[in-house]
Amino acid sequence: MLWGSRFKTKLNGSAMEFSSSLPVDINLIEEDLLVNKAHTEMLEQIGIISHDEMKSIINGLKTIHKEFEDGSWKPNAEKYEDIHSAIEGRLFELIGDTAGKLHTGKSRNDQVATDLRLWLKKAIGDIISSLNNFQNTLIDLSENNIKTIMPGYTHLQRAQPVSLTFHLLAYVEMLERDKKRFDFAFKQADVSPLGAGSIAGSTLPIDPEFTSWKLGFEKYFSNAMDAISDRDFVIDFINSCVVGQVHLSRLSEELILWSTAEWKFVKISDEYSTGSSLMPQKKNPDMAELIRGRSGKVLGNYVNIVSVLKALPLSYNRDLQEDKEPVFSSFTTYINSLNILNKIIATIEINKERFTNELKGDYFLSTDLVDWLVLQGISFRESHRIVGELVKYLESSEKDFSKLTLDEMKKINPIFNEEALEYLNLEKSLGRKQSQGSPNPEMIKDQLKKWKSKLIEVVKS
Ligand code: ARG
Repeated sequence: MLWGSRFKTKLNGSAMEFSSSLPVDINLIEEDLLVNKAHTEMLEQIGIISHDEMKSIINGLKTIHKEFEDGSWKPNAEKYEDIHSAIEGRLFELIGDTAGKLHTGKSRNDQVATDLRLWLKKAIGDIISSLNNFQNTLIDLSENNIKTIMPGYTHLQRAQPVSLTFHLLAYVEMLERDKKRFDFAFKQADVSPLGAGSIAGSTLPIDPEFTSWKLGFEKYFSNAMDAISDRDFVIDFINSCVVGQVHLSRLSEELILWSTAEWKFVKISDEYSTGSSLMPQKKNPDMAELIRGRSGKVLGNYVNIVSVLKALPLSYNRDLQEDKEPVFSSFTTYINSLNILNKIIATIEINKERFTNELKGDYFLSTDLVDWLVLQGISFRESHRIVGELVKYLESSEKDFSKLTLDEMKKINPIFNEEALEYLNLEKSLGRKQSQGSPNPEMIKDQLKKWKSKLIEVVKS
């Protein structure tokens, strides 16, 4: 017990059970041991403890680490309020009274914030490397599908032809923005609060710069009160997970649609599909559905932490203990979703020819025809009207562009000629795109080159 001498009775068992964060903050054990070690070294540096005391504490911490790893020490939530008290308690058992010097000049308030920031920095590193892997997988699939034509949709109605590569590269862009968002969250977490104490620092000559440096933080706090109350870095992290998970849910939804009998565009590998207990023919895209569904959990975590912080007076309040569950849950949900989606994409089968014939006469080449009229000097609005009339005529005669003759076109407007008819050629349509960022295969090849060298640089750095 870290406190108790001013109390007449012990904390009630049910109150201990209600308030202990040990089942959750056990996740922070590595970080808590690191923080304790850095703090102990600092105490020796400033002459508050002797070299031998430092050695004894650090050896004790090492033993605790080992015992935890091999399972011979299991901290007990009925006995301890949190991981910090559990470690200190065990240290007393191992090294005796010297353990009482460990907490000099520090509070659990600055310690828990330091632990969580350290944990998040590592977690964000893992997420960014998973994001890089996923981008690489999408690039690999993209390379083989530059000529795989598919409908580009707006309102989920066919809009203009695109290639699968173009579509996949849109996701590569999204993931790049996700990395930037996590990078920002990393920087927000990269400030050490250790040395802020309970609320207002210490009268002892503790050295926050030393511990910050030892723990690998970029900098340390400037205002002790802010240091222990601040959980903005948690909001930034979970926000990054929310946006990231929402992106994954969009791709998941597309995979679900594309794998239906109606679309027949992709086959998700059996390894990542499940069956039905009743209908023997069924093959379901459950992994993609779960990724989509778990967006609710991550968004809920965001609402959770923001609600905890709303109107919370400075400085530390026990409410802040509730920050850890949403952090851990968001991390696990997001990184697991990212990694499983990566595997689904790496093993997916694409029906490359799926749309080649079906799209040949599709009206979605209308916009190309409008552009041709514009090039003949007709205003865009008038061009739009003319092509609209052409589509109306085709629809009423139950035809599509593949059956359209030049004579019929000329009846709608005499300006049409052979060249206009060529504009209805699906294969050539992508190559005619001239504007930056469009699915022109030449531009797409440049994009792929750019992404590949960018991602190789990431691997090297
Ligand atoms: N378990 C607490 C938390 O996670 C640690 C800090 C407790 N501080 C205190 N003064 N009760 O926030």
